[in-house]
Amino acid sequence: MCGIVGYIGKKHRAGEVLLDGLKRLEYRGYDSAGMCVMDEGREQTFKAIGKVNILEKKIGKCRTKTNIGIAHTRWATHGKPSIKNAHPHKSGKIHLVHNGIIENYQELKDELIKKRHEFYSETDSEVVAHLIDEENKKYDFETAVIRALTQICGAYALVIIHEDEPKKMIAVRNSSPLVIGVADGEFILASDASAIIQHTNRVVYIDDGEMVVLTPDTYRVKTFSGKNKRKKEQLLDWTDDEAQKEGYSHFMLKEIFEQPNAVSDALRGRIILKNGNAKLGGLIEVTEQLRDIERIVIVSCGTSYCAGLVGEYMLEEYAGLPTEVEYASEFRYRKPLVNKKTAVIAISQSGETADTLAAIREAKNKGALTLGIVNTVSSTIARETHAGVYNHAGPEVGVASTKAFTSQLSILVLLTVFLGRQRQMSFTMGKKILSELKHIPKKIDKVFEDEKNIKRIARKYAKYESMFYLGRKYNFPIAMEGALKIKEISYIHAEGYPSGEMKHGPIALIDKNFPSVILAPNDSVYDKTLSAIEEIKARGGKVVAITTEGNREKLKKHANDIIEIPKTLEMLTPLLSVVPLQLLAYYAGAKKGFDVDKPRNLAKSVTVE
Ligand code: F6R
Repeated sequence: MCGIVGYIGKKHRAGEVLLDGLKRLEYRGYDSAGMCVMDEGREQTFKAIGKVNILEKKIGKCRTKTNIGIAHTRWATHGKPSIKNAHPHKSGKIHLVHNGIIENYQELKDELIKKRHEFYSETDSEVVAHLIDEENKKYDFETAVIRALTQICGAYALVIIHEDEPKKMIAVRNSSPLVIGVADGEFILASDASAIIQHTNRVVYIDDGEMVVLTPDTYRVKTFSGKNKRKKEQLLDWTDDEAQKEGYSHFMLKEIFEQPNAVSDALRGRIILKNGNAKLGGLIEVTEQLRDIERIVIVSCGTSYCAGLVGEYMLEEYAGLPTEVEYASEFRYRKPLVNKKTAVIAISQSGETADTLAAIREAKNKGALTLGIVNTVSSTIARETHAGVYNHAGPEVGVASTKAFTSQLSILVLLTVFLGRQRQMSFTMGKKILSELKHIPKKIDKVFEDEKNIKRIARKYAKYESMFYLGRKYNFPIAMEGALKIKEISYIHAEGYPSGEMKHGPIALIDKNFPSVILAPNDSVYDKTLSAIEEIKARGGKVVAITTEGNREKLKKHANDIIEIPKTLEMLTPLLSVVPLQLLAYYAGAKKGFDVDKPRNLAKSVTVE
C-alpha cells in the first residue's frame, strides 16, 4: 500500500498541491517519497528516504511554477527503501507513480533487458514505465499505455506523464484505489480523498479496468478496451481525518474491512494451481536447505504468536514437520535446542519487535536457518533473517493488529503447501488447499454481511467484566487471539482457552456474569465443542457461538447468540472465524467510548524488552 498523487491544472503550483497531498497520504506508507513536476516539458524529479518532510526539505526553494506533476509516498514491496527504489520511475520521457504489485514483472523485465532497456531500481513498478516507453516508440502516449496494460498482471493504480505532452496526464486502475478531485481549472488524482478534500469536495471514483485522460480543462474516462464511460461526481462532506479513514470511524475498523484485499495481496502471484504449489520468491535461495529441515520453531509475540499457533497445526498436519511455537520473550532467555536442521521462523508485523529480534539472533547463533514472515520491508527482522516472505498487507495504523494477522495466516498456508510439496503432500492436496485459499477474500466479505448482528452482540456483552474465549484444534489459537483483542480494545478481562480444558478447572468461574464466546465451526471436533457449550449452559453461563453457515437452527437451543461464517476447509477456518472476534472487540470498545486506535498502555511497535 503506497500513496499516490497527481496534479494538473492552472490554479496552483503542482509541487505545493503534491507535497500537501503526500503529507495526508503518509499513513499509507512512509519509507521514502518522491515527486516529478514539469514546466513546459522540462522535468524536475526529487526523491528522499524517509518521511515527506525530508522530501520537502530537499525540494527547498526549487519549487518552480509548474502545473503538472506526480508524487508518491512508498511502503516498500519489491526492493528495499532507497532513493533508487523511490517513485516516480522513468524510462525515456515517461514518468510514473504506482501503487500495487505487478506479479509478472520479472518476466517482463527480462524481455525488456533483451530490448536494451536499462533498469535503475529493484522495483516491479519501473517495469511499467519501460513497457510504456517501449510501446511509445510505435504508438502515441495513450495507445502505448493501453498496450502496456495488456501485458501486465497484478494490482495497480498508475499516474503517468510524458515530457512531450506537458498538458496531459493519464491514470489507470486495477484493484488499487484511485479517485479524481474535480475543481474549476484543476484536477487532483489520489489514492484516497484525504489528499483532495482541502481543494475540492467534488470527487469521481475510478473503477477497475478504467483509464482517465486529463488535461488542465477536462477529463474523460474510458475502459481499457476503449469504451467511453460517463462517471457520476460525488460530493463528500468528510473532514481530513475522516477521509484518511475513508469514512470509517477508526483505522482499526478500516483495517478489519481491508482484510479481503490484504489476503489477496499476500497471495498475489504466489499460487500456482497447475503445480499444486506455492511460489515464494523470498525462499528461492534456501529452497534446497529447506528440503533437509527436520523441525520448525516459530518465535513471535502477541497476535503474531497466535498466528504462529495456527501455523503449528497446519505445518504438522499437512507438511508433516514437527513444529513448536514459542513466545519470543521466553525463547531468548532459555536454552533453546536448535541446530542446522531447524528452521526458526520469526513472525512479525513491524519487523522491529525487540523480543522476536533477540530470539532470531539467538537461533542464528546456534546455527539454525532463520526465516521471517514480516510485513515491513527491510525492517531489522527482515534484514537479519536468512530468507523470508513479505506480507504485503500495507501499513497497519491501528495499534491492535487485524489485517496483519489474516495476512500472516495466508502466508503460513502458502508455506505449509510449499514445505508439504517438498515432502509427502500430493499435487491434489496442494491444489485443493490453494484453490480454496483463493476464495477466502470473498468469504471474508461474506462475514461482513453479518456486521449488524455482530455489532448488536458486541454492545450486549460490552458490560461484562470477564469473558472466556474457547476453541479447539485450529480454533484454539483464534480463541486466544479473540481474547487478546477484547482485552486490548475494550479492557474486558478475557481468557483464551482450549475448550477441552474447561472441565479441568476454569469452568469453576462460570456463572451468569461470566459469558463465553465459543468457536464452533462444523469441523472434525464440532461434537466435542457442542459438549463444551452444554457444560457451560448447564452452569448458567451465556454463550455466543461462532459457527458455520446453516448451523443456526441446530445451535439455537444451545447458544444465546450466534454468528455464522462461510464453510471452508478446516485448516482455513481461522481466516474467517477471527473476523467476527475482531469486530466484537472493536464494537465493544467503541460502545465504551475508548480510543480504539490507541489503547491505553500499548505501542504499535514494541522495540524494548
Ligand atoms: C495485538 C498486537 C500485538 C503485536 C505484538 C507483536 O493486537 O498488535 O500483540 O502482535 O506486539 O508485534 P509484531 O507483529 O510487530 O512483532
